[in-house]
Amino acid sequence: MTGTSGALKGGRDFLLAPSILDADLLRLGEEIKRVEDDLDWIHIDVMDGHFVPNLSFGPGLVTSIRGEFPGSFIDVHIMVEPAERFVDMFAGASPDILTVQAESTKHIHRVLQSIRDAGVRPGIAINPGTPVSAIETVLHMADLVLVMTVNPGFGAQKFLPEAAAKLKELVRFRVVHSLDYLIEVDGGVNADNASLLVSTGCDVLVAGSAIFKQDDPASAASKIRDSVSGR
Ligand code: DX5
Ligand code: ZN
Repeated sequence: MTGTSGALKGGRDFLLAPSILDADLLRLGEEIKRVEDDLDWIHIDVMDGHFVPNLSFGPGLVTSIRGEFPGSFIDVHIMVEPAERFVDMFAGASPDILTVQAESTKHIHRVLQSIRDAGVRPGIAINPGTPVSAIETVLHMADLVLVMTVNPGFGAQKFLPEAAAKLKELVRFRVVHSLDYLIEVDGGVNADNASLLVSTGCDVLVAGSAIFKQDDPASAASKIRDSVSGR
């Protein structure tokens, strides 16, 4: 892997992106610090109660995390509809990647372009019911492709193994078309499936409840990392 994605991966086998959705929000700064040694990216899920049946964070939180953790890599995943209405406000919060759901806009091409124009790396996410073929025509515009392995909206759901087949398709498409996106998996990731996901071609693992809902989030994050190195 070369270019943008190779640089982002920095020679590592995979990147771990703890999702703060299931962290103790009253102590969020401390929660992030607890897993700092094992995190590569901080994953922030934005939900609008419309595209998904839950509400979560706004751009203010992204700005606050950027202020508190200036050197961190902030991975913002917006599950909001229509996506174009929210691009400028989240791009203004200076994330490193801004990922939109393909299903959340009629104008995905324009949305990806507008994220890039705002100086942020664009990512595209697909729900379990959306095939890779639905986004093939815009994959050249994305720095990241996020495969949802649960239906979006909540943490701590069961991993949908059928969604993982899309990883192989994305790996193949990337080679055939000489593209450079990272492949990220989000939903139900834990120490039991992390190794298989990485060997299938996943570059970035998002994990929420498998880290923050555990008694010791730091050792839970290390456990996921070790499960991959020991594969
Ligand atoms: C789901 C979110 C996920 C979620 C993952 O809509 O996009 O990032 O926080 O949580 P776990 O790892 O518990 O499935
Ligand atoms: Zn997410």
